[in-house]
Amino acid sequence: HRPLRLALLGCGTVGSEVVRQLRARHDDLAARIGAPLELAGIAVRRPELRRDVDVDPTLFTTDAAGLVGREDLDIVVEVMGGVEPARSLLLTAMSRGASVVTANKALLAEDGATIYEAADIYGVDVYFEAAVAGGIPLIRPLRESLAGDTVQRILGIVNGTTNYILTRMDEEGVTFADALAEATELGYAEADPSADLDGLDAAAKAAILASLAFHTRVTIGDVHREGIAGLSAAAVSAARDMGYVVKLLAICERTARGIGVRVHPAMIPRTHPLAGVRDAYNAVFVECDAAGQLMFYGRGAGGPPTASAVLGDIVAVGRNRVRGGIGTGESAYADLDVRPIGET
Ligand code: NDP
Ligand code: HSE
Repeated sequence: HRPLRLALLGCGTVGSEVVRQLRARHDDLAARIGAPLELAGIAVRRPELRRDVDVDPTLFTTDAAGLVGREDLDIVVEVMGGVEPARSLLLTAMSRGASVVTANKALLAEDGATIYEAADIYGVDVYFEAAVAGGIPLIRPLRESLAGDTVQRILGIVNGTTNYILTRMDEEGVTFADALAEATELGYAEADPSADLDGLDAAAKAAILASLAFHTRVTIGDVHREGIAGLSAAAVSAARDMGYVVKLLAICERTARGIGVRVHPAMIPRTHPLAGVRDAYNAVFVECDAAGQLMFYGRGAGGPPTASAVLGDIVAVGRNRVRGGIGTGESAYADLDVRPIGET
């Protein structure tokens, strides 16, 4: 098969690791896909920045629109973040016939419907395993493996930055500010870390999970949200003295009144399995009618695990290009009653 041409939008924490892993596993990926991958361009804001990636420097461009406007791309990988210009760029890419892989939960939680519908209209794939819980396979199980079951509830820790901060405050007495600085240095935090601290990132992920699990449309505006920005060291240590640990939870459930989705800090008994989820790890419980209770656990943030999820999507999308198929889309949905649980 001819090489598949891939464009990358963004080369920061995740994007640079995607490039490293693409290069390190080039031959294996070609064998798994049935065609080699060829990097056609990398869009960034600051091409002059030193990046620890071994690629031809002429691949870097600030003209993201020009890059995705090309007719010869097979796959566009979006790891730049934010709603715009990411949405417009992905729509252009799909309109030109490229399939899309994105880690952008902010975009999908704000306006996933537009992206999923465009994929259907243009007959291309949109895959987004990295958008929720970093390296943990969770989107594909919900989207595909559990599509024949009925999910009743999802409960979990889906933000690595806040879990890292809470762990460091709880176990080492590190200050909030210092723990945040560490999480940022380790590549866990969003470009604007207030998205992590205010629960916005977890709420975006909860909206995506609820949409997939309940086959309906949940946007970030439907999610009742409280973050950890106001949490004091005293509150963390008081919880500790009482035998509890503070965790930021995301909860999505079917209720008698419709679908409820919320994100808030909670006191968890130290004996509970979620209490043992430390640092930037995530854990997600899914309760289904037939499969019963499932638990997904692993690294929820950081370059290498997130790039693993992106590469898995590239392989899936690449295989579809080679074989002439596309994956299941999210544009078919039921119009269920969705309301933030905290607001009656
Ligand atoms: P970074 O801020 O490290 O990287 C963003 C990259 O996008 C940079 O290379 C930046 O260019 C580029 N960029 C941003 N805006 C533009 C623009 N308008 N035009 C061209 N290039 C642009 O972010 P991350 O790698 O951490 O995150 C990327 C995405 O992945 C986000 O959607 C994030 O939510 C998601 N994600 C992140 C995870 C993580 O652990 N970090 C985990 C899971 C998902 P330049 O370098 O020149 O500034
Ligand atoms: N900022 C996010 C987090 C990255 O801390 O979980 C992973 O989505």
